[in-house]
Amino acid sequence: MLNLQQAADVVLVAAFGDRMPMTSVLALCLLALVASAEDSKLSSHATMLADNSANLAFSLYHNMVKDKGTENILISPVVVASSLGVVAMGGKASTASQVKTILRADNLKDEHLHAGLSELMSEVSDANKRNTTWTISNRLYGPSSVVFADAFVKNSKKHYNYDHSKINLKDKKSALNSINEWAAKSTNGKLPEVTKDMPNADGAMLVNAMFFKPHWDDKFNEQMVDNRGFQVTRSFTVGIQMMHRTGLYDFHEDTKNRLFALNMPLGQKQASMIIVMPYYLEPLERLEKLLTREQVDTWISKMENKAVAISMPKIGIEVSHNLQKHLADLGLTEAVDKAKADLSNISGKKDLYLSNVFHASALELDTMGNPFDTSIFGSEKLRNPKLFYVDHPFIFLVKDNKSGAILYIGRVVRPKGDKMRDEL
Ligand SMILES: *[C@@H]1O[C@H](CO)[C@@H](O)[C@H](O)[C@H]1NC(C)=O
Ligand SMILES: *[C@@H]1O[C@H](CO)[C@@H](O)[C@H](O)[C@H]1NC(C)=O
Ligand SMILES: *[C@@H]1O[C@H](CO)[C@@H](O)[C@H](O)[C@H]1NC(C)=O
Repeated sequence: MLNLQQAADVVLVAAFGDRMPMTSVLALCLLALVASAEDSKLSSHATMLADNSANLAFSLYHNMVKDKGTENILISPVVVASSLGVVAMGGKASTASQVKTILRADNLKDEHLHAGLSELMSEVSDANKRNTTWTISNRLYGPSSVVFADAFVKNSKKHYNYDHSKINLKDKKSALNSINEWAAKSTNGKLPEVTKDMPNADGAMLVNAMFFKPHWDDKFNEQMVDNRGFQVTRSFTVGIQMMHRTGLYDFHEDTKNRLFALNMPLGQKQASMIIVMPYYLEPLERLEKLLTREQVDTWISKMENKAVAISMPKIGIEVSHNLQKHLADLGLTEAVDKAKADLSNISGKKDLYLSNVFHASALELDTMGNPFDTSIFGSEKLRNPKLFYVDHPFIFLVKDNKSGAILYIGRVVRPKGDKMRDEL
């Protein structure tokens, strides 16, 4: 890929070779500048990290489903990668290098790791460009005794947008209150609580508090929202709101595996939400066993653009995970180990370990999006749509179109709502 300077050089060489007048040279230079700004590419480091964070998405998801029972899951792998970047920044020796191993970035220099992750995050979370609402607040909490090193405070803010706060962990109740209050405030009340408990209250804690609301490329009609049921299990259905629309979507029916895969573009198609749902209500274990990065790519490659009548829950879910143990399972064994952790770039002393990694998001599925293309209404194209009726547990991914980074991976198995009366 040419960078700006190279592109300009090529234009100049081409122009002078042809002995063009100076005005044409200038015009061409301007063209080259405009072209490269339009199609700004991520740096090679950011591209590599986007790709690797997609692998992290699947390994983390699989590690989490092992002990999640029937809970909702909501993780942002790119944000987890950022938090790992903070650990690398605060760590020394093998405490830091384990991060690079998890991110498959062993050969990357520190400054490229930090700059690459930072570039990736600002690209994928650019709300102005993407319309999609995504507020992300990050904090590192340390015990009252810690003295944060200036360089760490400055650099982790610069690259990872992490704030720092000291907290009296001995007073667990007020510590929890203060964390939850901060999360509620920074998400405008969308995420009222990060955690009810703090298992190890003696180390450094990383906390992400997020709110994500997709902006559909084609909005749902606000008038077409009604009350329906979402089947959690055969004997348990909750009442939810459902929104409906028929449009052209990339869709695949995997008859062998008895599932549907649907792609719903977001914003200006910079990202999309991919939904994988079994034909009928069933526990998601069977699909989760199939869920690899390759399999998802296969489903996507087999999708065809066709008329689909979508009924989607119009719901909000809030999910909070403590990722400390899961990250340890993926290889972050030192940072979480009080005896071994060397996080001395945080404080200048070997006095911290990573005691908790709270990763909390509120997700809101709403009708909001771009005005729909009315020109296809009533046309042949929308005849006999496939039905995609999302009234039972499903898996979803939010994938960045350009970099392939996974912005979210998760599952909805139990929306909030009142138990519905059996109508058998
Ligand atoms: C950690 O601190 C040392 C100096 O103590 C410094 O040379 C090194 O660059 C720091 N590492 C990071 C990732 O900031
Ligand atoms: C979406 O973002 C584009 C910029 O990419 C902007 O022009 C447009 O007004 C935004 N639309 C909405 C509904 O916010
Ligand atoms: C990715 O972006 C291109 C260009 O805007 C668009 O044509 C394509 O449909 C997008 N893909 C998805 C999956 O949204």
